[in-house]
Amino acid sequence: METPHAEAPAQRGLPSGPVTAAIGLTVVAVALVFLFETNVFPSDWYALFKLVHVVGAVIWVGGGLTLTILAMRAERSSDPAEMATIARQAAFAGERVFAPVGLLVFLMGIAMVINLHWGWGTTWIVIGLVGYAITFLTGLLVLGPQAKRIGQLIETKGAEAAETQAAIQRILLLARIDMGVLLLVVADMVLKPFT
Ligand code: HEM
Repeated sequence: METPHAEAPAQRGLPSGPVTAAIGLTVVAVALVFLFETNVFPSDWYALFKLVHVVGAVIWVGGGLTLTILAMRAERSSDPAEMATIARQAAFAGERVFAPVGLLVFLMGIAMVINLHWGWGTTWIVIGLVGYAITFLTGLLVLGPQAKRIGQLIETKGAEAAETQAAIQRILLLARIDMGVLLLVVADMVLKPFT
């Protein structure tokens, strides 16, 4: 006769909150040491602005690209539930992560231009400003409202409804164009063309 298996005791993993906080503090502490030991920038302020600007850009562009890859995978699977999940996650990341981090990237860019007197008419800076304006307005006027509409469609008509799926496909495509603009701004910042 089979003896019933005793319930396995619940696994107690590492406490994620304190470990995450410790990793975060260590990264900040070591980055600050790098910051004060660098000799390639005109001032510590400029180095700080650039560090925050570039780390913000990495989070923003890297996060957006990851979502784009996951969205393409969901599209290929033709699974409405997966499409709805990625749309919800993209809406959350767009509103709670990319919008505030993007604003920080923009403000640090402004701070660097003022700090080092790059000049507002410099072509690569104008391209950066135009790129930011495009992505800011796309988020505010198109992606944000569309994401809210999709949330309502999922609740009222369901994730599988043709109207919901069409709206999700449209927003994912628009977000892809937005990523294209961001990648061009990165190329512009790194290569500083026409200077
Ligand atoms: C739209 C989003 C933006 C992204 C993703 C972005 C990304 C970057 C990246 C990756 C760098 C590092 C380039 C390198 O050192 O080779 C950089 C540098 C820089 N960015 Fe941006 N940037 C953005 C917007 C802006 C804006 C709007 C401004 C100006 C108002 C700006 C001003 C600068 C400046 C002054 C530098 C430092 C250049 C240097 O020290 O060589 N950025 N940016």
